[in-house]
Amino acid sequence: MVPKVPIDLPGTRYHKARVAADALRQQLTQIIEERRIALRNGRASAEQDLLSFLLSNGSDEEERGLTDDEIKDNIILLLYAGHDTSSSTLTSLFKFLAENPHCYDQVLREQLKVASSKEEGELLEWKDLQRMKYTWRVVQETLRLLPPAQGGFRKAIKDFTYSGFTIPKGWKAYWTVNATHFNSKYFINPKKFDPSRFEGAGPAPYTFVPFGGGLRICPGNEFARVEILVFLHNVLKNFRWNLVDPDEKIIIDPMPLPLKGLPIKLIPHSK
Ligand code: HEM
Repeated sequence: MVPKVPIDLPGTRYHKARVAADALRQQLTQIIEERRIALRNGRASAEQDLLSFLLSNGSDEEERGLTDDEIKDNIILLLYAGHDTSSSTLTSLFKFLAENPHCYDQVLREQLKVASSKEEGELLEWKDLQRMKYTWRVVQETLRLLPPAQGGFRKAIKDFTYSGFTIPKGWKAYWTVNATHFNSKYFINPKKFDPSRFEGAGPAPYTFVPFGGGLRICPGNEFARVEILVFLHNVLKNFRWNLVDPDEKIIIDPMPLPLKGLPIKLIPHSK
């Protein structure tokens, strides 16, 4: 494979990404200024959100803590890592549930059971999410087949040899989800949508890695579980749906992206 070298030429995607990141950083500079003043005047509190927390726990003006640039990068990372990943998973979930009506029916039964144990208007709690066992297996199978994050880099802290290749200290190695998610050694008939793979002990450790693994595993994975299950519960209680274009193509850019935005036709249960 030809390595992609990032060349910052006008018109390239890399250039557009850099211009967009600069624009975001500029906006954040202003927001940081305003928030710093608000914190000083007592109009904002250290606990109100991530930005206040980071600014109150050491920044440029103090000896330790994050610099303003690091704070901006953390906010930008969270915008991307925390938002697009969950919405991508939900989009793929809607696709797989429409394509697999027997799974939809089983998920619906589980969700209606949870719903029937709640009073009108009562919010879902953590213990309700723990009862959504089959639904979560369907989400896991979605994350296996269409993982929002394709992989990531790790820097070697010492020389090591793996599978006959020597990686020198300081080099970066790229790990990729599809190396295991689509490997028939770990997942029989890997292209098939089959949530039952996650029954019992489930896949072998470090083979199912949509959230990464080790020390830098996604810290938002439990939060993503809450977002996805709660959103799905509320849609499922009310609707069934069909794909407008069952042959819609999905590209990876860099997350799975249905080319038409996955239009669906919602059908209320009452009909
Ligand atoms: C389905 C949803 C999500 C998926 C598939 C996902 C996936 C990932 C992956 C693969 C990584 C890299 C892990 C590694 O290198 O081992 C990561 C990192 C990260 N994720 Fe997520 N993520 C999701 C949702 C979220 C949410 C909701 C948040 C925050 C609210 C979040 C915040 C982060 C952060 C801050 C990192 C960087 C961690 C670090 O470098 O130490 N993610 N995520």
